[in-house]
Amino acid sequence: MKKVNASITAVGSYLPPKVLDNKTLETMVETTDEWITTRTGIKERRILEKGIGTSMMAIKAVKEILEKTQLDPKQVDMVIVATITPDMHVSATAAHVATEIGATNAFGYDLQAACSGFLYGLSVASSYIESGRYQKILLIGADKMSSIVDYSDRNTCIIFGDGAAAVLLEPNYEGLGLQDEYLRSDGIGREFLRIEAGGSQLPLSKDIIDKKKHFLFQDGKNVFKYAVSNMAEASYNIMQRNNLSNQDVDYLVPHQANKRIIDATAQRMGITDSKVLMNIENYGNTTAATIPLIFSDFEKKFKKGDNIILAAFGGGFTWGASFLKWSYNS
Ligand code: UT7
Repeated sequence: MKKVNASITAVGSYLPPKVLDNKTLETMVETTDEWITTRTGIKERRILEKGIGTSMMAIKAVKEILEKTQLDPKQVDMVIVATITPDMHVSATAAHVATEIGATNAFGYDLQAACSGFLYGLSVASSYIESGRYQKILLIGADKMSSIVDYSDRNTCIIFGDGAAAVLLEPNYEGLGLQDEYLRSDGIGREFLRIEAGGSQLPLSKDIIDKKKHFLFQDGKNVFKYAVSNMAEASYNIMQRNNLSNQDVDYLVPHQANKRIIDATAQRMGITDSKVLMNIENYGNTTAATIPLIFSDFEKKFKKGDNIILAAFGGGFTWGASFLKWSYNS
């Protein structure tokens, strides 16, 4: 029997039209366009209107795939939504997305691994496909970060944005698709990046909300330190493990949190800037959506057989790198 890999066979995305640029942020918190640009590489981000949940962006991203591929949604086996901003804590956003797109034969659930959500989701979805149990899985990275960001906190509001992107995963028998992964987590991270309230440990109350504990908190300097070393190390490890030289790597598709973290990773890998794909300037950090948004924006660049390294670091902490061989020409 031929070995089965899980490969991405289509991509789709959705970004809300409303733009929040650095100049506007200058009027909201003590910051400057120059500081944000030089420290993060971000110029603007997208913001979804109030009262609309993450699922709307996820549904639009998937609909692009369905239109492109003419796939009958009834053939979809499974829908995974990687997100830290589900529509509601209960029930699963993925179940709603599956129903709305007409995937009536699918089951769906949400996966929470913050900025590494897409990498972890790729691991889960690929395992189902490699096992032979399921053939068509929609993996969506979607986050409405504006729903958990405090727009008076310059440590977070300058970085994050809203967006969604989806991939269709299917079996590949030519040796293309996901080849290897190196995934890690370390619970020390919740000291530095968290939403303290709203969970089982500290349910919401008026007092808690007055203290703004329902918003995202980030100790940026410490997160940065861990992110730089771990994302670079994971990317380097996966190259070593698969005997990939810097010449062999065609593209790095990194999580878009801070251009300086991406640059450090590329440097550790010894790859040239032209191989490093970025759209952080336009969307900021969309958490689980950053990596599939790169696939969507740069899809035309990819050629069948390209060696691509994915890398992420985020809350938890969670982090890792994956190696995949692209499976189609578009
Ligand atoms: O994706 C999930 C994981 N998240 C990340 O990977 C984010 C990791 N962290 C970062 O990207 C960076 O730490 C930040 C962009 C959040 C902050 O950049 P930094 O270079 O680490 O800044 P800092 O916190 O060390 O602050 C440097 C200076 C400080 O002033 P002093 O003490 O040197 O006078 C801050 O008060 O910059 C000041 N500062 C700002 N100034 C203007 C901090 N934030 C801002 C701001 N605008 N928004």
